[in-house]
Amino acid sequence: MSHYRLDLNFAKALDQKDALSKYRDAFHIPKDKKGNSLIYFCGNSLGLQPITTKQYIEQELEDWANLGVEGHTNGKNPWLHYHEFLTQGMASVVGAKPVEVIVMNTLTANLHFMMVSFYKPTKKRFKILIEADAFPSDKFAVESQ
Ligand SMILES: Cc1ncc(COP(=O)(O)O)c(C=O)c1O
Repeated sequence: MSHYRLDLNFAKALDQKDALSKYRDAFHIPKDKKGNSLIYFCGNSLGLQPITTKQYIEQELEDWANLGVEGHTNGKNPWLHYHEFLTQGMASVVGAKPVEVIVMNTLTANLHFMMVSFYKPTKKRFKILIEADAFPSDKFAVESQ
């Protein structure tokens, strides 16, 4: 960082060295009215759509259409075991062992589980701080606790 420069060439040189820069092409990047790619900083909430998402969703819709409830066990990616497909990747993301993680539920349901497990209000310590304009379901989850 000591050699940091605030100019376009320096930024482009950093991009070229960035081992993650190749992933840019794996996402749909929204464009402005003139067709220029927007600069997208939103990682919270909805990030960019991976280009492969459509084909993966279509695969599941096809299995659902052709197999109905049997998709749970006979689909290309049997839904009953979905959490197992995501275990290794999530363990890497959070730096845990695969036996320590499970991918499940919705974000809101998981907030409830987290607070039921860890939120132990006392007469003196009972507040949960949350930003005023938080996502509505986050606020409802906190309020309900
Ligand atoms: C900050 C935040 N909270 C809650 C949600 C709701 O997630 P879910 O439908 O998985 O409960 C979202 C969804 O985009 C979100 O971005």
